[in-house]
Amino acid sequence: MKDILSAPFMTKMCETAANMYRLGWDERNGGNISLLLTEEEVAPYLDTTQSIRVIPTGFPAKELAGKLFLVTGTGKYFKNVQSDPANQLGIIRITGDGEAAELLWGWEDGGKFTSELPAHLMSHRARLAVDPENRVIMHSHPTYTLAMNYVHPLDEKQFTHTLWQMCTECIVVFPDGIGVLPWMLCGTNEIGEATAEKMREFRLVVWGMHGIYGAGKTLDEAFGLIETVEKAAQIYMLTAHLPRINTIQDHELRALAESFGVAYRKDFLSE
Ligand code: 13P
Ligand code: ZN
Repeated sequence: MKDILSAPFMTKMCETAANMYRLGWDERNGGNISLLLTEEEVAPYLDTTQSIRVIPTGFPAKELAGKLFLVTGTGKYFKNVQSDPANQLGIIRITGDGEAAELLWGWEDGGKFTSELPAHLMSHRARLAVDPENRVIMHSHPTYTLAMNYVHPLDEKQFTHTLWQMCTECIVVFPDGIGVLPWMLCGTNEIGEATAEKMREFRLVVWGMHGIYGAGKTLDEAFGLIETVEKAAQIYMLTAHLPRINTIQDHELRALAESFGVAYRKDFLSE
C-alpha cells in the first residue's frame, strides 16, 4: 500500500484546510469539509474492507450507501489539519442501510466526523441529483460574509444582488446566486434538510448569522465560490457606511452574464 498521507486527495484536503485557516474563515474548530472519494482513488492507499469502528450518523442516507468520504472531525482545529491529518480527518463509508458510517482511516485519537454531517450528507445527495460530478461540501465562517449578515437583509435575491454589484466577476462566478437560511440551530437534521433543499438550486448557502456552505466538483471550486463571496462581502463592509456614488447597473450585470454565457438568476436582477 502507498502512504495515504501522500495521496493527492489527502494533500489537497490539507492544503485547502490550511488556506481556509490562514484566511481567517475557520477559527478554532469552526467549519468542516467533506470530499466524496471513489474506490479507485482510495484503493492504492487503503484496504477499504477493513473497518476500524462503526459510528451511527443519526439520520438515514440510503442513497449514499457504500459511498466513501474524507471528512473533518468534530471539535478539530483547522489550524492543525495539515500537521496532524490522522487525528483531524477521517475516511468513512456509509453503511448499507445508510444509518451509520464505518471508519476506515483517521481519528486515531477516538474522534468522529463533524457535527454537521447531516448538512454535508444531505447536501451531497441534493447536489449529486443536479450535478453527478459534485464531490465537495464545504462549510466555514468567513469574517466579512458573517459581518454582512448583521447589517444586510437575509433575503436571497437582495443578498445575491448586493454581492453581484461588489465585484465585476461575481455574477460570472456564482450566476446561480446564493441561497439564504435564517438563523437555525446548527448540528441538527433540520438545518441539514433545509440546507439540502437550498442546494437543489444553489451551490452557495448562507446560514444566517453563522456562516456559509459551498459545493463543487473539486475542493478548489467550492473554495473559490466562498472566496469570491467573501471578497465581495469585504468590499460591501468597507463601503456600506459611505455614500455610494458609483454602482454596477443591472443592465451591466446582464451584459456580463450574457457575454460569459452563464445561466444566471434573471429574477435576481430588477430591471
Ligand atoms: P464541528 O467541529 O463539529 O465540525 O463544528 C464546527 C462548526 O462550524 C459547526 O457549525
Ligand atoms: Zn459552523
